Amino acid sequence: MFTSPTGGKEAIRYAIDILNKEKGIPKKVILRSQKITTGSTGEPLAALPATVRPKAGKDRPITVGFAQVGMESGWRAAHNQSVIDAAKDMGIQLVYENAEQSQEKQIAILRKFIRQKVDVIAFSPKTANGWDEVLREAKNAGIPVILSDRKVDVEDDTLWTAYIGSDFREEGRRAGRWLTETAQPGRNYGIAEIQGTANSAPATGRKTGFEEGIAGDNRFRIVRSVVGDFTKESGKVLMRQLLRETGGKGIDVVYCHNDDMALGAVEAIEEFGLKPGKDIMLISVDATKSALQALIVGKLNFVVECNPLLGPQLMKAVKDLSEGKELPVEIITSEGVFTQAEAKKNISIREY
Ligand code: AHR
Repeated sequence: MFTSPTGGKEAIRYAIDILNKEKGIPKKVILRSQKITTGSTGEPLAALPATVRPKAGKDRPITVGFAQVGMESGWRAAHNQSVIDAAKDMGIQLVYENAEQSQEKQIAILRKFIRQKVDVIAFSPKTANGWDEVLREAKNAGIPVILSDRKVDVEDDTLWTAYIGSDFREEGRRAGRWLTETAQPGRNYGIAEIQGTANSAPATGRKTGFEEGIAGDNRFRIVRSVVGDFTKESGKVLMRQLLRETGGKGIDVVYCHNDDMALGAVEAIEEFGLKPGKDIMLISVDATKSALQALIVGKLNFVVECNPLLGPQLMKAVKDLSEGKELPVEIITSEGVFTQAEAKKNISIREY
């Protein structure tokens, strides 16, 4: 049997937060549906994630262990700063570690946090798989885990408490939809895709979403799809290779899973003697200031936003947990898209 929460309590809670002008009000929340099984004596048992130890935040500050994935992109630098600043603003003690793009290192950091008995663990998982064991250890130790910006794929979803971040699949759809709406009628387009880190939630979501966005429109064909790692360098190297192999023929559009790789691809296209944004169209995801600048000068054609400023929502969730409130299973941030005109309008107030 599964519960089906009505959402009434949460609606009132968020309405009060909006009235109080709290930071980090999400665009969408999804509530947890609990699985109810029968215990050995026939009593109902609910499968629940761990909750914060009762004393945290009362007799002493709440401690959050945060395991950042690495420092691969401009987006990540903004995300990092947002988490650090929000913890400071809200009086939460942050134990910060950086896994430098190694899943093994990230797992070791999570184990260290468990040994240190932090109140809450938060992390941005490098890839979607491989977390069952360490998350079970955290749950057995009674430590709630919040996923900040990337989801995991584990068998038991009570191993983590909440996900706070973007809808990556929708970001991909937005990129695809824009292309179908902007492209010329009757012309065929060959698309090269530069993916983010293999098996990471943003790469999988953005790939699937983009394919959905262009599906059914036979002007578009993904002719090449290569795997990068969200760094500018990987975008440049992969684009160089694609141009070398094809001579630039048959690639009309490059869809990059983030801005850094798109900016790297821009450099490779220029190096090859072609004009990015004109000879080859470029679409990217994140909407960092540097990408919007490239969009303004016509080197990128469209940018989908992915909001890295997740610190306030994360710390608010930690506080809510320490006050015994139940968290939604997914807290999805509000995001938009940028054409050249929108980039010009917003560049002066862009925060990252
Ligand atoms: O998980 C979010 C993604 O990770 C961002 O889009 C990318 O720039 C980052 O490295």
